[in-house]
Amino acid sequence: MTFALTPDRDQKADEYLTRYPSARAALLPVLWLCQEQNGWISPEVIDFAARRLDLSTAAVKGVVTFYTMFHQAPVGDHVVWVCRTLSCDLRGAKAIQEHLEGRFGCHAGGTSTNGKFSLRKAECLAACGQAPMVQIDDRYYENLDLGQLDRILDTIERDGIEAAVERFATEASFDPDAGPKARPLQSVPPPPVSKEAADAAQGSGTSTDKPTEDE
Ligand code: FES
Repeated sequence: MTFALTPDRDQKADEYLTRYPSARAALLPVLWLCQEQNGWISPEVIDFAARRLDLSTAAVKGVVTFYTMFHQAPVGDHVVWVCRTLSCDLRGAKAIQEHLEGRFGCHAGGTSTNGKFSLRKAECLAACGQAPMVQIDDRYYENLDLGQLDRILDTIERDGIEAAVERFATEASFDPDAGPKARPLQSVPPPPVSKEAADAAQGSGTSTDKPTEDE
């Protein structure tokens, strides 16, 4: 069956196309719209994106298979990513993964028997200072212990994802429609040099300005 975006999402795709100098550059946000609607990037979605942006299906597939956040098979209602890189691992990420595997009844890479959650392992999600953490759908939940994790999942099951976001998620650092917030660049002062080091440098000169014996 062919895939098509809903009219409102199709209009959003048109907007994205005006933001970039080439259609190819709009591929990521357009695929994101497709996944939001379809739940995963099926072969029909790849055909759609290729037609919509005038790209080859191979080019679209290359992007889809490169980025792990694009699902290449159906997933549960929510996707839980457990960070398993060093900082999180040192702070209990293995126990978190095992706890989730027990609760969901599936291994990482699988989906819970009730179809509610898919479990994935992730490489560092750049929240190491708040380890251990998980990402659920597009939001972060940090400084976790097993009790807190269960409270978050119970809330999702009982009251829905929005309730969990409101009560437990880290404040979003970006607005998906506006793009990342720009942080003003700050000039970094050079590190202080001790008087001894400065004197030593002056005394020895550098290899480029010191005359060689042949000169
Ligand atoms: S190691 Fe988990 S967020 Fe960096």
